Amino acid sequence: MSGEAGPGTGGPEIEGAEIEGPQIAAPGAADPKAGGLEIRGLEVRYGPVRALRGVHLAVPRGAVAAVLGANGAGKTTLLRAVSGTLRFHRGAITSGTVAFGGSRLDGVPAAAVVRRGVVQVPEGRRVFARMTVAENLRAGALGVPGRRAAAARERVLELFPVLAERAHQRAGLLSGGEQQMLAIGRALMAGPSLLLLDEPTLGLAPLMAARIADTVRQINAQGTSVLLVEQNAAMALALAERAYVLEVGEVTLSGPAAELAASDEVRRRYLGIGAPETDRPVGTDPGPGHERHERTRLARWTA
Ligand SMILES: Nc1ncnc2c1ncn2[C@@H]1O[C@H](COP(=O)(O)OP(=O)(O)OP(=O)(O)O)[C@@H](O)[C@H]1O
Ligand SMILES: [Mg+2]
Repeated sequence: MSGEAGPGTGGPEIEGAEIEGPQIAAPGAADPKAGGLEIRGLEVRYGPVRALRGVHLAVPRGAVAAVLGANGAGKTTLLRAVSGTLRFHRGAITSGTVAFGGSRLDGVPAAAVVRRGVVQVPEGRRVFARMTVAENLRAGALGVPGRRAAAARERVLELFPVLAERAHQRAGLLSGGEQQMLAIGRALMAGPSLLLLDEPTLGLAPLMAARIADTVRQINAQGTSVLLVEQNAAMALALAERAYVLEVGEVTLSGPAAELAASDEVRRRYLGIGAPETDRPVGTDPGPGHERHERTRLARWTA
Protein backbone atom coordinates (compact mmCIF):
# COMPACT_ATOMS: atom_id res chain seq x y z
CA MET A 1 0.00 0.00 0.00
CA SER A 2 1.39 3.36 -0.89
CA GLY A 3 1.39 6.48 1.18
CA GLU A 4 2.48 8.46 -1.81
CA ALA A 5 0.58 11.63 -2.53
CA GLY A 6 -1.00 12.11 -5.90
CA PRO A 7 0.60 14.39 -8.46
CA GLY A 8 0.19 18.13 -8.21
CA THR A 9 -3.11 19.54 -9.20
CA GLY A 10 -1.82 22.91 -10.25
CA GLY A 11 -2.86 24.44 -13.50
CA PRO A 12 -5.83 23.85 -15.69
CA GLU A 13 -5.85 20.78 -17.82
CA ILE A 14 -7.69 19.80 -20.90
CA GLU A 15 -8.81 16.35 -19.93
CA GLY A 16 -9.66 15.31 -23.47
CA ALA A 17 -6.21 16.32 -24.65
CA GLU A 18 -4.63 14.59 -21.71
CA ILE A 19 -6.33 11.38 -22.67
CA GLU A 20 -6.24 11.57 -26.40
CA GLY A 21 -2.93 13.38 -26.78
CA PRO A 22 0.36 11.68 -27.53
CA GLN A 23 1.64 11.86 -23.95
CA ILE A 24 -0.49 8.92 -22.83
CA ALA A 25 1.25 6.71 -25.31
CA ALA A 26 4.31 6.84 -23.08
CA PRO A 27 3.55 4.91 -19.90
CA GLY A 28 6.23 3.90 -17.44
CA ALA A 29 7.90 4.96 -14.24
CA ALA A 30 7.76 8.64 -15.16
CA ASP A 31 4.02 8.45 -15.62
CA PRO A 32 2.46 10.13 -12.57
CA LYS A 33 -0.60 7.94 -12.95
CA ALA A 34 1.33 4.68 -12.81
CA GLY A 35 -0.23 2.46 -10.20
CA GLY A 36 -3.53 4.27 -10.29
CA LEU A 37 -6.90 3.67 -11.91
CA GLU A 38 -7.25 4.50 -15.60
CA ILE A 39 -10.57 4.35 -17.38
CA ARG A 40 -10.59 4.99 -21.10
CA GLY A 41 -13.46 5.29 -23.53
CA LEU A 42 -15.77 3.32 -21.27
CA GLU A 43 -19.19 2.33 -22.54
CA VAL A 44 -21.56 0.30 -20.39
CA ARG A 45 -24.93 -1.14 -21.30
CA TYR A 46 -27.72 -2.83 -19.43
CA GLY A 47 -29.24 -4.73 -22.31
CA PRO A 48 -30.47 -2.06 -24.69
CA VAL A 49 -29.89 0.76 -22.17
CA ARG A 50 -26.63 2.58 -22.60
CA ALA A 51 -25.67 3.90 -19.15
CA LEU A 52 -22.14 5.19 -19.85
CA ARG A 53 -20.52 6.46 -22.99
CA GLY A 54 -16.94 7.52 -23.78
CA VAL A 55 -15.95 7.94 -20.14
CA HIS A 56 -12.32 8.79 -19.44
CA LEU A 57 -11.29 9.03 -15.81
CA ALA A 58 -8.13 8.65 -13.76
CA VAL A 59 -7.42 8.22 -10.06
CA PRO A 60 -3.67 8.58 -9.58
CA ARG A 61 -2.14 6.41 -6.91
CA GLY A 62 -2.72 7.96 -3.48
CA ALA A 63 -5.31 10.45 -4.72
CA VAL A 64 -8.97 11.13 -4.04
CA ALA A 65 -11.07 11.68 -7.15
CA ALA A 66 -14.74 12.62 -7.03
CA VAL A 67 -17.57 11.94 -9.44
CA LEU A 68 -20.56 14.24 -9.22
CA GLY A 69 -23.84 13.78 -10.98
CA ALA A 70 -27.59 13.78 -10.63
CA ASN A 71 -29.76 10.69 -10.13
CA GLY A 72 -29.39 8.27 -12.99
CA ALA A 73 -26.25 9.94 -14.36
CA GLY A 74 -24.36 6.65 -14.23
CA LYS A 75 -22.25 7.07 -11.06
CA THR A 76 -23.01 3.67 -9.58
CA THR A 77 -22.61 2.06 -12.98
CA LEU A 78 -19.13 3.53 -13.20
CA LEU A 79 -18.15 1.97 -9.87
CA ARG A 80 -19.68 -1.36 -10.88
CA ALA A 81 -17.60 -1.30 -14.06
CA VAL A 82 -14.46 -0.93 -11.95
CA SER A 83 -15.37 -3.49 -9.30
CA GLY A 84 -16.45 -6.16 -11.77
CA THR A 85 -19.97 -6.28 -10.37
CA LEU A 86 -21.84 -5.13 -13.49
CA ARG A 87 -22.71 -8.69 -14.42
CA PHE A 88 -24.69 -9.06 -11.18
CA HIS A 89 -26.95 -6.29 -12.50
CA ARG A 90 -27.16 -7.63 -16.05
CA GLY A 91 -24.81 -4.94 -17.27
CA ALA A 92 -21.65 -5.19 -19.36
CA ILE A 93 -18.75 -3.12 -20.58
CA THR A 94 -19.30 -2.87 -24.31
CA SER A 95 -16.33 -0.66 -25.16
CA GLY A 96 -13.25 0.86 -23.55
CA THR A 97 -10.88 -0.27 -20.83
CA VAL A 98 -10.43 -0.17 -17.07
CA ALA A 99 -6.89 -0.61 -15.77
CA PHE A 100 -5.48 -0.58 -12.27
CA GLY A 101 -1.81 -0.63 -11.43
CA GLY A 102 -1.05 -1.01 -15.11
CA SER A 103 -3.11 -4.14 -15.71
CA ARG A 104 -6.60 -4.55 -17.04
CA LEU A 105 -9.52 -4.96 -14.69
CA ASP A 106 -12.30 -5.18 -17.25
CA GLY A 107 -13.31 -8.79 -17.68
CA VAL A 108 -11.85 -9.70 -14.28
CA PRO A 109 -14.36 -11.36 -11.89
CA ALA A 110 -15.42 -9.31 -8.88
CA ALA A 111 -13.63 -11.50 -6.31
CA ALA A 112 -10.38 -11.20 -8.25
CA VAL A 113 -10.80 -7.42 -8.45
CA VAL A 114 -10.92 -7.37 -4.64
CA ARG A 115 -7.73 -9.45 -4.54
CA ARG A 116 -6.13 -6.83 -6.79
CA GLY A 117 -6.86 -4.28 -4.08
CA VAL A 118 -9.98 -2.58 -5.41
CA VAL A 119 -13.00 -2.69 -3.09
CA GLN A 120 -16.40 -1.09 -3.49
CA VAL A 121 -18.66 0.17 -0.71
CA PRO A 122 -22.09 -0.08 -2.33
CA GLU A 123 -24.67 2.66 -2.11
CA GLY A 124 -27.34 2.37 0.57
CA ARG A 125 -24.82 1.29 3.25
CA ARG A 126 -25.65 -2.37 2.87
CA VAL A 127 -24.63 -4.34 5.92
CA PHE A 128 -25.68 -7.82 6.97
CA ALA A 129 -28.41 -6.62 9.32
CA ARG A 130 -28.87 -9.87 11.24
CA MET A 131 -25.20 -10.46 11.74
CA THR A 132 -23.20 -8.77 14.46
CA VAL A 133 -20.80 -5.94 13.78
CA ALA A 134 -17.86 -8.30 14.36
CA GLU A 135 -19.30 -10.86 11.93
CA ASN A 136 -19.82 -8.17 9.31
CA LEU A 137 -16.17 -7.19 9.62
CA ARG A 138 -15.06 -10.80 9.40
CA ALA A 139 -17.09 -11.18 6.23
CA GLY A 140 -15.04 -8.36 4.70
CA ALA A 141 -11.84 -10.26 5.43
CA LEU A 142 -12.85 -13.56 3.81
CA GLY A 143 -9.85 -14.89 1.97
CA VAL A 144 -7.49 -12.45 3.69
CA PRO A 145 -4.65 -14.20 5.55
CA GLY A 146 -5.05 -14.13 9.35
CA ARG A 147 -2.25 -11.72 10.21
CA ARG A 148 -3.32 -9.20 7.60
CA ALA A 149 -6.94 -9.50 8.68
CA ALA A 150 -5.98 -8.81 12.29
CA ALA A 151 -4.02 -5.73 11.28
CA ALA A 152 -6.92 -4.54 9.11
CA ARG A 153 -9.34 -5.04 12.00
CA GLU A 154 -7.15 -2.97 14.25
CA ARG A 155 -7.05 -0.19 11.68
CA VAL A 156 -10.82 -0.28 11.26
CA LEU A 157 -11.51 -0.15 14.99
CA GLU A 158 -9.08 2.73 15.36
CA LEU A 159 -10.91 4.63 12.62
CA PHE A 160 -14.33 3.72 14.02
CA PRO A 161 -14.11 3.09 17.79
CA VAL A 162 -17.89 2.77 17.92
CA LEU A 163 -17.62 -0.50 15.99
CA ALA A 164 -15.51 -1.94 18.82
CA GLU A 165 -18.09 -0.83 21.36
CA ARG A 166 -20.87 -2.45 19.34
CA ALA A 167 -18.92 -5.51 18.21
CA HIS A 168 -21.55 -7.99 19.44
CA GLN A 169 -24.61 -6.01 18.51
CA ARG A 170 -26.63 -6.84 15.43
CA ALA A 171 -25.69 -4.52 12.59
CA GLY A 172 -29.33 -3.76 11.82
CA LEU A 173 -29.62 -1.97 15.15
CA LEU A 174 -26.91 0.58 14.36
CA SER A 175 -27.81 4.13 13.35
CA GLY A 176 -27.54 5.08 9.68
CA GLY A 177 -24.20 6.74 10.21
CA GLU A 178 -22.85 3.79 12.17
CA GLN A 179 -24.01 1.42 9.44
CA GLN A 180 -22.11 3.52 6.91
CA MET A 181 -19.03 3.26 9.12
CA LEU A 182 -19.50 -0.50 9.25
CA ALA A 183 -19.91 -0.69 5.47
CA ILE A 184 -16.67 1.25 5.00
CA GLY A 185 -14.97 -0.74 7.74
CA ARG A 186 -15.97 -4.02 6.12
CA ALA A 187 -14.47 -2.85 2.82
CA LEU A 188 -11.25 -1.86 4.59
CA MET A 189 -10.93 -5.38 6.02
CA ALA A 190 -9.80 -6.52 2.57
CA GLY A 191 -6.90 -4.04 2.75
CA PRO A 192 -7.75 -2.13 -0.43
CA SER A 193 -5.34 0.17 -2.21
CA LEU A 194 -8.31 1.75 -4.00
CA LEU A 195 -11.63 2.27 -2.25
CA LEU A 196 -14.75 2.90 -4.32
CA LEU A 197 -17.30 4.83 -2.28
CA ASP A 198 -20.86 5.19 -3.54
CA GLU A 199 -22.61 8.18 -1.92
CA PRO A 200 -21.39 7.49 1.61
CA THR A 201 -23.12 10.53 3.12
CA LEU A 202 -26.52 10.08 1.48
CA GLY A 203 -29.32 10.57 3.99
CA LEU A 204 -27.00 11.33 6.91
CA ALA A 205 -27.31 14.35 9.20
CA PRO A 206 -24.71 17.04 8.47
CA LEU A 207 -22.62 16.21 11.53
CA MET A 208 -22.44 12.53 10.65
CA ALA A 209 -21.71 13.38 7.01
CA ALA A 210 -18.81 15.54 8.19
CA ARG A 211 -17.49 12.64 10.28
CA ILE A 212 -17.63 10.32 7.31
CA ALA A 213 -15.79 12.94 5.25
CA ASP A 214 -13.08 13.16 7.92
CA THR A 215 -12.73 9.41 7.88
CA VAL A 216 -12.34 9.36 4.11
CA ARG A 217 -9.56 11.92 4.53
CA GLN A 218 -7.90 9.72 7.15
CA ILE A 219 -8.20 6.58 5.05
CA ASN A 220 -6.58 8.41 2.17
CA ALA A 221 -3.82 9.80 4.41
CA GLN A 222 -3.02 6.20 5.34
CA GLY A 223 -2.29 5.49 1.69
CA THR A 224 -5.56 4.29 0.17
CA SER A 225 -6.69 5.94 -3.05
CA VAL A 226 -10.36 6.82 -3.20
CA LEU A 227 -12.89 7.14 -5.99
CA LEU A 228 -15.79 8.95 -4.36
CA VAL A 229 -19.21 9.19 -5.94
CA GLU A 230 -21.36 11.86 -4.34
CA GLN A 231 -24.36 14.06 -4.76
CA ASN A 232 -23.02 16.12 -1.87
CA ALA A 233 -20.84 18.13 -4.22
CA ALA A 234 -19.51 20.53 -1.60
CA MET A 235 -18.13 17.68 0.48
CA ALA A 236 -16.76 15.77 -2.46
CA LEU A 237 -15.00 18.78 -3.95
CA ALA A 238 -13.46 19.62 -0.58
CA LEU A 239 -12.04 16.11 -0.29
CA ALA A 240 -10.91 15.42 -3.82
CA GLU A 241 -7.99 16.58 -5.88
CA ARG A 242 -9.73 15.94 -9.17
CA ALA A 243 -13.39 15.81 -9.98
CA TYR A 244 -15.60 14.69 -12.83
CA VAL A 245 -19.15 15.65 -13.60
CA LEU A 246 -21.28 12.90 -15.14
CA GLU A 247 -24.40 13.85 -17.04
CA VAL A 248 -26.57 11.20 -18.63
CA GLY A 249 -23.70 8.76 -18.90
CA GLU A 250 -21.05 11.15 -20.17
CA VAL A 251 -18.33 13.15 -18.46
CA THR A 252 -19.12 16.74 -19.31
CA LEU A 253 -16.68 18.53 -17.01
CA SER A 254 -13.48 17.52 -15.32
CA GLY A 255 -10.49 19.15 -13.72
CA PRO A 256 -8.85 19.99 -10.42
CA ALA A 257 -11.56 19.93 -7.75
CA ALA A 258 -10.82 23.50 -6.66
CA GLU A 259 -11.40 24.74 -10.19
CA LEU A 260 -14.65 22.86 -10.52
CA ALA A 261 -15.76 24.24 -7.17
CA ALA A 262 -15.11 27.76 -8.47
CA SER A 263 -16.84 27.28 -11.80
CA ASP A 264 -20.17 28.99 -12.32
CA GLU A 265 -21.76 25.92 -13.75
CA VAL A 266 -20.83 23.63 -10.88
CA ARG A 267 -21.71 26.29 -8.32
CA ARG A 268 -25.10 26.80 -9.85
CA ARG A 269 -26.00 23.21 -10.64
CA TYR A 270 -24.30 21.20 -7.93
CA LEU A 271 -23.56 23.58 -5.08
CA GLY A 272 -26.80 25.54 -5.25
CA ILE A 273 -24.97 28.85 -5.26
CA GLY A 274 -25.56 31.71 -7.70
CA ALA A 275 -22.78 32.64 -10.07
CA PRO A 276 -20.17 34.86 -8.42
CA GLU A 277 -20.69 38.58 -8.91
CA THR A 278 -18.26 40.35 -11.14
CA ASP A 279 -17.20 43.95 -10.97
CA ARG A 280 -19.72 45.06 -13.56
CA PRO A 281 -22.11 47.74 -12.30
CA VAL A 282 -25.33 46.39 -10.86
CA GLY A 283 -28.09 45.98 -13.41
CA THR A 284 -25.90 46.06 -16.48
CA ASP A 285 -26.09 43.31 -18.99
CA PRO A 286 -22.83 41.43 -19.15
CA GLY A 287 -23.50 40.76 -22.83
CA PRO A 288 -23.05 37.63 -24.86
CA GLY A 289 -19.82 35.76 -24.33
CA HIS A 290 -19.40 37.16 -20.86
CA GLU A 291 -20.41 33.96 -19.20
CA ARG A 292 -17.99 31.94 -21.24
CA HIS A 293 -15.17 34.29 -20.38
CA GLU A 294 -15.98 34.33 -16.70
CA ARG A 295 -16.41 30.62 -16.58
CA THR A 296 -13.09 29.05 -15.97
CA ARG A 297 -10.59 27.03 -17.83
CA LEU A 298 -12.33 23.76 -17.19
CA ALA A 299 -11.93 20.86 -19.49
CA ARG A 300 -15.01 20.12 -21.48
CA TRP A 301 -15.68 17.78 -24.29
CA THR A 302 -18.39 15.92 -26.01
CA ALA A 303 -17.08 12.50 -26.91
N1 LIG B 1 -29.63 -3.12 -13.46
C1 LIG B 1 -30.00 -2.19 -14.34
N2 LIG B 1 -30.72 -2.52 -15.43
C2 LIG B 1 -31.11 -1.58 -16.33
N3 LIG B 1 -30.79 -0.28 -16.25
C3 LIG B 1 -30.08 0.11 -15.18
C4 LIG B 1 -29.66 -0.81 -14.17
N4 LIG B 1 -28.95 -0.13 -13.25
C5 LIG B 1 -28.94 1.15 -13.66
N5 LIG B 1 -29.62 1.30 -14.81
C6 LIG B 1 -29.79 2.54 -15.58
O1 LIG B 1 -28.52 3.09 -15.86
C7 LIG B 1 -28.52 4.49 -15.71
C8 LIG B 1 -27.48 4.90 -14.67
O2 LIG B 1 -27.88 4.40 -13.40
P1 LIG B 1 -26.95 4.50 -12.12
O3 LIG B 1 -27.60 3.72 -11.06
O4 LIG B 1 -25.55 4.16 -12.50
O5 LIG B 1 -27.03 6.07 -11.83
P2 LIG B 1 -26.56 6.89 -10.54
O6 LIG B 1 -25.85 8.10 -11.06
O7 LIG B 1 -25.82 6.01 -9.61
O8 LIG B 1 -27.95 7.33 -9.90
P3 LIG B 1 -28.35 7.57 -8.35
O9 LIG B 1 -27.82 8.92 -7.98
O10 LIG B 1 -29.84 7.54 -8.37
O11 LIG B 1 -27.75 6.47 -7.53
C9 LIG B 1 -29.95 4.88 -15.32
O12 LIG B 1 -30.61 5.25 -16.50
C10 LIG B 1 -30.52 3.60 -14.76
O13 LIG B 1 -31.90 3.54 -14.95
MG1 LIG C 1 -26.13 5.42 -7.68
